[in-house]
Amino acid sequence: MPGGSLHNGGTGAGVRRAAAEAVAAVVHQGRSLDAALNAVEADIAAADRALLRNLAYGTLRRHFRIAEWRRELVKRPLRRRDRIVESLIDVGLFQLVGTRIPDHAVVSATVEAARLLGRKAFAGLVNAVLRRFVREGFAGRPPVGREARYDHPDWLVDRLERDWGDSAAAILEANNARAPMWLRINAANNGVEAYRGRLDAAGIAYSLLPGLPDAVRLEEPVATTALPGFAEGCVSVQDGAAQLAARWLLADGGRRVLDACAAPGGKTAHLRELGARVDAIDIDGERLASVRDNLERLGLDARLYEADAAAAPDWWDGTPYDRILLDAPCSASGVIRRHPDIKLLRRDADIPRLAALQQTLLARLWELLAPGGRLLYVTCSVFRAENRAVVEDFLAVTPDARPDPLLPNNNIRALMRPDGPGYQIFPGTDGLDGFFFAPLVKAR
Ligand SMILES: C[S@@+](CC[C@H](N)C(=O)[O-])C[C@H]1O[C@@H](n2cnc3c(N)ncnc32)[C@H](O)[C@@H]1O
Repeated sequence: MPGGSLHNGGTGAGVRRAAAEAVAAVVHQGRSLDAALNAVEADIAAADRALLRNLAYGTLRRHFRIAEWRRELVKRPLRRRDRIVESLIDVGLFQLVGTRIPDHAVVSATVEAARLLGRKAFAGLVNAVLRRFVREGFAGRPPVGREARYDHPDWLVDRLERDWGDSAAAILEANNARAPMWLRINAANNGVEAYRGRLDAAGIAYSLLPGLPDAVRLEEPVATTALPGFAEGCVSVQDGAAQLAARWLLADGGRRVLDACAAPGGKTAHLRELGARVDAIDIDGERLASVRDNLERLGLDARLYEADAAAAPDWWDGTPYDRILLDAPCSASGVIRRHPDIKLLRRDADIPRLAALQQTLLARLWELLAPGGRLLYVTCSVFRAENRAVVEDFLAVTPDARPDPLLPNNNIRALMRPDGPGYQIFPGTDGLDGFFFAPLVKAR
């Protein structure tokens, strides 16, 4: 359909329809938000896609608060097959509290979207709910339930409070904020300072964090197409805390490195940019293809293997590695601000299962490390069960392993909270994502 205008309702209704479909796919079908957005984006004009993402991300970021309002406004539960209308109402409520779109425009586009969704019979309900929300000043009422107050599921609040006591509130607050965009300058093909000059010339404002030499934090996010030299591999998008891994692992020289859970390859590429020889494995072939694509754009190479790092290493040539990066699969609870769908998709029962996998990976990969070699255990989780506890259990049964005293400089250390044998960064600290690092060294 030309421009998608008819299908999209011509008033922005199509964007609301697509946002409701994406939100419903996450909330009711357990799909990831990225996959859900990819499925609905094709119908949406390129110029409207930023709005679509903003609506879907924003609605999920505030899901628990919005759901409390909705339950108050729609007393009678809708039938299962009409649940998409709940998601549409959520998208409408988010627009009223989280955007500057005028109320009347929100109401008309969202009501029209009910028709586009084939739920004409609910247009009156959507209209009445959104108008009442505005009329009765719902946005100013204090939240009632704990989930609404924190905009997180109870199990996640419980776990954070158990792990971090009084600091839990700040983590929860940071999770509900929007994350800044960080870049990693490719030290292999431009001078870092020269590239900053190109950002200056392009009028892209940024700040620096002492101790992270390749990183810049943008004042405002920009499309990668607007970044100087992006297509030519001068720069990548990568959170600042994630950039700590390669620098830390190679702090006393870059040699033969195994990147054991590599996809989509942000840290693989950084290791290569810093001059290490890298073997990279990932269990997921499709995700491994994105490592290849990323390296290609950056003009770099690595040996890539599709393999299970928890199984016997039939891909391995038998030469032990000097350095191993284990960026383990985890709950991703440190990056909720970038992936608000995690609040809906994860369950408490996932955490012990992940911890068991992390234990196995650590034990297996230790066998591939040379005596005197270093392994950096990393997660983007803020749960102790996946971090401190995994490493402590490992150390208790591995006599040739001990915490590595080689640490980043003081400025970075000040951002990290020591926790057992590792270091935790909380999300939002200096604009960084939540990460855990445990540096380990093998006896000679
Ligand atoms: C946190 S992500 C890695 C992110 C990556 N290091 C980066 O910086 O771009 C974890 C990765 O572990 C992979 N993975 C999960 N289980 C694995 C296993 N048993 N063996 C190898 N890779 C695994 C997942 O497919 C996923 O790509």
